[in-house]
Amino acid sequence: MKCSWEPPLFAVALSKSGYTHRLIRESKEFVIAVPNKGLQPVVEFFGSTHGNEVDKFAATGVATTSARHIRSPLITDATINMECVLEQEVDSGDHLIFIGRVVAAYLNEGQKVLLNMGRQNGKRIFEEF
Ligand SMILES: Cc1cc2nc3c(=O)[nH]c(=O)nc-3n(C[C@H](O)[C@H](O)[C@H](O)COP(=O)(O)O)c2cc1C
Repeated sequence: MKCSWEPPLFAVALSKSGYTHRLIRESKEFVIAVPNKGLQPVVEFFGSTHGNEVDKFAATGVATTSARHIRSPLITDATINMECVLEQEVDSGDHLIFIGRVVAAYLNEGQKVLLNMGRQNGKRIFEEF
């Protein structure tokens, strides 16, 4: 979610039980990639496996592109990619909020955005806008 226009700040809330927050703590950077329908299988795989147990990039074969300012890769076919440098970590109960300064952003023009609309019968529902 957006936290500030100037400076440009975005935040992600990550469960303490996951692995990704450890990587962000170590590297002090992250990419926010906003997917589209074409990436739904990748989203579902990334969102149901743990990075300390499986190499999600190798397992899905998702296309990546080098970022300009950070070492984390961009997701080539994502609708939006934002390179973020960690500014702040906030403890929020069972999650940690990582606030990042956007140092570069990319738009795949004409692509829509896939949103997770919650769950129905235990299954995540996705819609593209
Ligand atoms: C559409 C979608 C959205 C998700 N959003 C979040 C989120 O905002 N924060 C979070 O902690 N986990 C979220 N998850 C769950 C994590 O992606 C999941 O627990 C994953 O296995 C964590 O991987 P990791 O252990 O490599 O960090 C989401 C999953 C999906 C499929």
